[in-house]
Amino acid sequence: MVRVLLNEETLDASYLPARLVHREKELELVYRRFRESFSKGLPNHLLLTGGVGSGKTALARRLGADLERGGRLAGLPVRTAYINCWRRASDRTVMLDLLRSVHVSLPDRGYSLSEMLDVFEQGLRKSPEHLLVLLDEASSLVRQGTKLVYLLSRSHEVELGSISLVLIAVEDLFPLLDPASRSSFGVTRRLSLAPYDRAALVDILASRAELALRAGSYERDVLDQIARIASPNGDARFALEILAGAAHAADDEGADAISSEHVRRAKGSILPTVTEGQLEALSTHELGILLSLSRLLKGRGSSAASQKLRANHAALLEELHAPPMSRTTFWRTLKELERDGLVTLETGGSGESSQVAMDELPASYLATLLEERLGRGRTGKG
Ligand SMILES: Nc1ncnc2c1ncn2[C@@H]1O[C@H](COP(=O)(O)OP(=O)(O)OP(=O)(O)O)[C@@H](O)[C@H]1O
Ligand SMILES: [Mg+2]
Repeated sequence: MVRVLLNEETLDASYLPARLVHREKELELVYRRFRESFSKGLPNHLLLTGGVGSGKTALARRLGADLERGGRLAGLPVRTAYINCWRRASDRTVMLDLLRSVHVSLPDRGYSLSEMLDVFEQGLRKSPEHLLVLLDEASSLVRQGTKLVYLLSRSHEVELGSISLVLIAVEDLFPLLDPASRSSFGVTRRLSLAPYDRAALVDILASRAELALRAGSYERDVLDQIARIASPNGDARFALEILAGAAHAADDEGADAISSEHVRRAKGSILPTVTEGQLEALSTHELGILLSLSRLLKGRGSSAASQKLRANHAALLEELHAPPMSRTTFWRTLKELERDGLVTLETGGSGESSQVAMDELPASYLATLLEERLGRGRTGKG
């Protein structure tokens, strides 16, 4: 049997493609800035921001790999240390990873940050190189008032070694940095990636499909269908996940090409860009409206009239013994949900006649979250 999916690993988020279509300009720009700085014997830093799936991690890792190949600073070879700070949101835990990157391992207890910095400095001195530190998902680290960012961006002054720093996050971290660190991230050291539009997503899908799928097993139309689904958020990861899912669906069926039905099936089994973390971050108002909507949509088409949603939501609030919500608050919350890409609003002539649509979000999960939240709210008060 001929298969559609030939190299699944090349669709994986951890695979770093040699070319990043539609990010060539950005990559070229930051690469040049690092090279220029290195040629003067100076480190360079970068604050890289952009929405979910906009290619931040891929761009930063590509930059690292390219600089390892083509860059030197004062004779030192460049080496990249990539650290995802998502679950290591403290200076000490990030420091443990940094130590490993210079081949020192310390037990994770009993050392202060400054002791760890000393050991790190010695490790770096033993095998002299310019270390390009990529701190991915750095939001919570910075929000917790990191000292490490300052130290790494002033490595020379604080005699830590030769280090360049790339901070990566969805939100703009600049306003959250302390004034001393801010001065290391002047305007030429900040780059914000715009979301991909539909045409860009088609090209990205095509570039990855070429690596992963058998030639002739997919048509441009199918890629465009996927791009359309992913374009409201410009999220390349979501697009690639749907492509992988559709290719699996085709193979499971023994089909020799991906059809639009395979795409629909794949889309149904993947949650949209919403992560559990994002749902946790929603306000109680937003959760309540989403829950009403998901109950309303169950088996009844993909969109509901906004008046109906409002009535349904009012009933939910009553059921939960929560205070009623004003019409303006309801609309403002709905707009916020739209801005976050969780619902789509199709406004008719007057506001009241809109249709509200959303991709399948598990109602049971929303209900649990909401109940937990309200439960917490009550214990908080009493
Ligand atoms: N221009 C591109 N060309 C090819 N593949 C791309 C491109 N941009 C992103 N991708 C792929 O899309 C997926 C998501 O990209 P990436 O992980 O870099 O996004 P991100 O901005 O870091 O998202 P997040 O905020 O969720 O971490 C990865 O598999 C990546 O390889
Ligand atoms: Mg990322």
